This record gives sequence, structure tokens and C-alpha cells, in this order.
Amino acid sequence: MPIFNDIDLENWKDSEIWTDSLWIIDKRDKTGKHNGFYHGNFVPQIPKQLISRYTKKNDIVFDPFVGSGTTAYEAESLNRHFIGIEIQEELVRNVRGKVDNADYFSELIVGDSTKDKIFNKVNKILNNYKKKNVQLAILHPPYADIIKFSNLKEDLSNAKSLKDFLEKFSLVVKNTIKILEKGRYLAIVIGDKYTQGKWVPLGFYCMNEAQKLGLTLKSVIIKNMEGSRAKQNKEGIWRYRALASDYYIFKHEYILILKN
Ligand SMILES: C[S@@+](CC[C@H](N)C(=O)[O-])C[C@H]1O[C@@H](n2cnc3c(N)ncnc32)[C@H](O)[C@@H]1O
Repeated sequence: MPIFNDIDLENWKDSEIWTDSLWIIDKRDKTGKHNGFYHGNFVPQIPKQLISRYTKKNDIVFDPFVGSGTTAYEAESLNRHFIGIEIQEELVRNVRGKVDNADYFSELIVGDSTKDKIFNKVNKILNNYKKKNVQLAILHPPYADIIKFSNLKEDLSNAKSLKDFLEKFSLVVKNTIKILEKGRYLAIVIGDKYTQGKWVPLGFYCMNEAQKLGLTLKSVIIKNMEGSRAKQNKEGIWRYRALASDYYIFKHEYILILKN
């Protein structure tokens, strides 16, 4: 029996946990508190699967890129505590207004996840609840500059270059490792980008940064991008452009599973 989840292995045939490295998700789960308003959010099925697979009831889920709070709502509905950081204050206000599980805390911090002083706040929260670590970290950073999330200069989507983006991403992973329980998991959700005629494998670069910091790679999951709002109604034009050129259209992103 794994010590890092509550999966009932006696009834393993009934388990709804996915174990294949290919995740084809037809449509976004819009039930509960998820309304999908935020351009650049991920589907709730991702944190739901990760939380169910890699945490136990009462564990703490950590997310340094909260966005619209998809992970916070899944943690709450699965009876896990949550701590999150987001650089945009109005997003934090929105999520704070919606989390309301009296038995499980959801603590949100406004700030820059690359900074030690923001992680000091995470440590203070852990101390207040007499906890030492978080048990799962889910990182869904901007895919470099593909979507510009804000005008804030510390926002990773405003990084000056690929090098700058990777250095900042690495700082977030480094800070996260310090609060992640040994033997527990860190998941990175990321896609690649295409710029000036070149495929930029952001997923592999981010994976490399995490491995350089000592994390062990456990799985590379490929997830389809079907249903992504950014692509709607543009399929025809993109197919024409691809046929007229030499590249393939992005249809996948990565969920990288690493162990501390
Ligand atoms: C891809 S989105 C996350 C979406 C989220 N998973 C959801 O489902 O809504 C990335 C988020 O990271 C935030 N962000 C960018 N740079 C940051 C930083 N340095 N510290 C904290 N948050 C940051 C952006 O404002 C954006 O909301």
C-alpha cells in the first residue's frame, strides 16, 4: 500500500485513477467552482488526478502559480489543505472569496514565487498550523511568453528571454523543494512553444531544470490539447499554414512527475 495516497488497492479494479502516460481529456469539467473564465487555466481533471494519486486526506497541496484557483478547488473538494501563491492580487481575491471548506485550510499569498521572502510566508503558515512541509506541489507556470498574464515585471510571462524564464522557473522549483516533504512529489504542467521558425521544447527545458535541482523524474505524461479555448475556430487556418510549411500543430502538453 503506497504511503502517499489513499488508493484502495483491495478494490484496484474500481479505481478511477489514470495510470497511462497518455491523457486524452475530451472536455473540461465545469462542475463545482470551476467556471473556466481564466484564459490559461488547466482542466480540473489534471489536479484531481494528481491530488488523488499523490496525496492522502489531510495532506497539504501547494501551488505557486494559482491563477484562477483550479488546484485550490480540487484540493478543497478532495479534503486536502491548500497553500498557493499568485502574483495577481485580483485573482487571489477571487479565489479567497470562493474557497469555504471549514475543515480544510486554503491559504493564499499574493506575491512572486521566485522570492525567498514569499516562501517565508509559506513557512509561517505551516508553523501556524503546526505543519512542517507540503506533500504535493503542482506547478503550472506561464508557457514563457505565449500568454501574457499581467504587466508585472516579475510575472514569468514577462521574462526577458528564454534564459531568464528558465532561471526564474528554476528559482520557483528550488524554493518549492525546500518546503516539500522528502519522498513526495512535484508535478509540472507545461507546453512547448514555436517561435521564429523553431520549436522551443519548454517542457524538456523545465524538466531539465527540475532534474538539475536533484528531483527524480518518475513520469512524462502527454496530455492532449483538444478543447483548448485558444485554438477554437482556428483549426482550418492552422492546418492550411502547417500544410504549406514544414511543421506540426501543437496538440499536446506535458505533465512531468518528479519525486523529491
Ligand atoms: C498558467 S497560469 C496558472 C493557471 C492555473 N493552473 C489555473 O488553472 O487557473 C500561470 C499563473 O502564474 C502567475 N504568475 C506568473 N508569474 C508569477 C510569479 N513570479 N509568481 C507567482 N505567480 C506568477 C500568472 O499570473 C498566472 O495566473
